[in-house]
Amino acid sequence: MRSLLVGFTLIVMTIAAPMMAAQKVELSIDASKTGAKIDRNIFGQFAEHLGHGVYEGIWVGPDSKIPNTRGIRNDVVGALKAIKVPNVRWPGGCFADEYHWRNGIGPQRVVTLNPNWGGVIEPNTFGTHEFMDFLDQIGAEAYVSVNVGSGTPREAAEWLEYMTTAQPTTLEKERAANGHPAPYKIAYLGIGNESWDCGGNMTPDYYLSQMKTYSRFVRNFNSEQQDKQQMLKIAVGPGGDGPRWTDWTETVMKAYQQHTWSWDINGLSMHNYTVGHWPPSYTSVGFGETEYSQFLKFTLEMDGLISKHAAIMDKYDPDKKVALVVDEWGGWYAPLPGSNPGFLVQQNSLRDAILAALNLNIFARHADRVRGANIAQMINVLQAMIMTEKEKMVLTPTYYVFKMYVPFQDATFVPVTFDAGWYTHGDVALPRVDAIAAKDASGKLWLEITNLDPNQPVEVEASLAGITAKSAAGETLTAPKVDSVNTFDTPNTVLPKPVSAKVQGGKLALKLEPKSVTVVSVEQ
Ligand code: AHR
Repeated sequence: MRSLLVGFTLIVMTIAAPMMAAQKVELSIDASKTGAKIDRNIFGQFAEHLGHGVYEGIWVGPDSKIPNTRGIRNDVVGALKAIKVPNVRWPGGCFADEYHWRNGIGPQRVVTLNPNWGGVIEPNTFGTHEFMDFLDQIGAEAYVSVNVGSGTPREAAEWLEYMTTAQPTTLEKERAANGHPAPYKIAYLGIGNESWDCGGNMTPDYYLSQMKTYSRFVRNFNSEQQDKQQMLKIAVGPGGDGPRWTDWTETVMKAYQQHTWSWDINGLSMHNYTVGHWPPSYTSVGFGETEYSQFLKFTLEMDGLISKHAAIMDKYDPDKKVALVVDEWGGWYAPLPGSNPGFLVQQNSLRDAILAALNLNIFARHADRVRGANIAQMINVLQAMIMTEKEKMVLTPTYYVFKMYVPFQDATFVPVTFDAGWYTHGDVALPRVDAIAAKDASGKLWLEITNLDPNQPVEVEASLAGITAKSAAGETLTAPKVDSVNTFDTPNTVLPKPVSAKVQGGKLALKLEPKSVTVVSVEQ
C-alpha cells in the first residue's frame, strides 16, 4: 500500500512539475530609442462628493479627534504625498452638474442634498477653500469640473473669477474675506461631466454649443497662468465604443478643427470603467481564478477604446494638440454587502493592483495622446487608493502600484518588444506578461513587468541596448491569493517587497512571481 502511495505521489509530481516550471519571456529594450513623455497627469486622482470619499475620507472637520490640519486628515495627506498625486478632479462626477459653488464658501454653509449618491445630506463644509487647502497639503494641482447640466455659464465664470482674480473685484474681496487673499491656480477646467447621461442627457450638438459658451466665458484670471501654466479646458468626450460614442468624439473634434479665436479646448475626456456588465455584479473579494481572468480580459479593452477614439482625434487634430484625458477609470464591482449601494463601496484586491498596472501601461503606450487620467476614486469609493473607518486608515494594493510607478511620472517612454506568450483559463486567454520601460530625468532606465499568470512564475530575460547596465533592483507586489486584500486588521497582506535582478553581458534576468507587479531600475 505504502509503495503504491509513493508511486502515485511520484506520478502526480511528474505531471504537476511542468505546470509549476517557470515560463521564459524575452524582452528587448533599446534605451537609445525613446518615445513620448509619460505625462505625470496620467496618475491623477478623482474625489467626488460621494459616500465617504470626501466626508470622512478627506474631511473630518477641525474639531475631530482624528489628527487633522484645518479639518483635513493628516494620515490621508501623508499617504497621498508619498504617491506624488499630480492633480485631483473635483467635485464630481455626476455631483459636479448639481454643484453650486456658493453653497460651499463662507462661514455659513448651505445644507443641501446629494440626490445622485444615496440622497444624503450635503453639508457643503468641504468647499472651494477646503479643496484648495487639501491640494496644497498634498502638493497636487486642481482639476475643477464646472456645472454645465444645471448651472449657467455665468455661475461658472463667477466661480473662476472668485478663485483666480487678483483685481479688487467684489468676488476677489469676498475670497479674501473668506481667508485667501492670494488668487488660486486652476490647472484643469472640466466643462461638464458625462453630459450625454447624468450631466444632462444632451445630444452631441447640444453639448457642443453649451461647451463653446463655457469655453468662451469661463476665464482664468490668475496672472501666472496667462502665458505659462495656462489652464487646460477639457470637454466631455466618449463613454464607450459604440456609434453613440464615436459620433460624440466626431462632433466635438470636427468642431475643434474649425474652432475660431473665441473658444478652444485642450483635452477631450473619456470614461471607461472595467465592470463586465451593468449593473456591476462581479464581487470585489471572495472570487477565484475564473473571475480574475475574466475581469482582466475586460480591462484590456481600454487599449482598443483609446485607439478607436485617438484615431478619430487624429483625423481632426493630427498634431495631437488635444489630449485624451481618461478622467474616470478603474474596476467597478457590486457594492459590498451591507453597504449603502449609493456609496459605491468595494474592496480592493491584488487583482485591482494588476488591473491598475495594465491600465497605466496602456496609457503609457498611448502617451502621445493620453496626457491625463484620473482613477475613480481616491478614497473609500470604487477602486480607491485608501480606505478609512473613523480613525483607522488602510492602504490598498492599488495604492502600492501608484507608489511603485512614481518614477514613471514625466519619464520618457522607451519601447519594449516582447512575445508575451499566453496564460489561459477556461475560455479566457490573456497575455502572460505586460511590460513598459521609461527613462527618468536623470537618464535612469525603469522597467515595469506584470505577470498576469496566477499560477506560474516567469523568468524574464531582457536584452538592454543603448546603456551599460551594471545592476538592477526594485520592488515586487504580490500576495497569496488573487483576491487577497489589505484590511484595517491585516494591512500588510499585499505589500511591495524588494527584488533584485541579475545583470550580465547586457542582459537582465529577473524571476517574476505569479500574479505580480514588479518595477526595477537599472543602474549604469
Ligand atoms: O465615479 C462614479 C460615477 O461614475 C461618476 O459620478 C460619473 O461621472 C460616472 O458615471
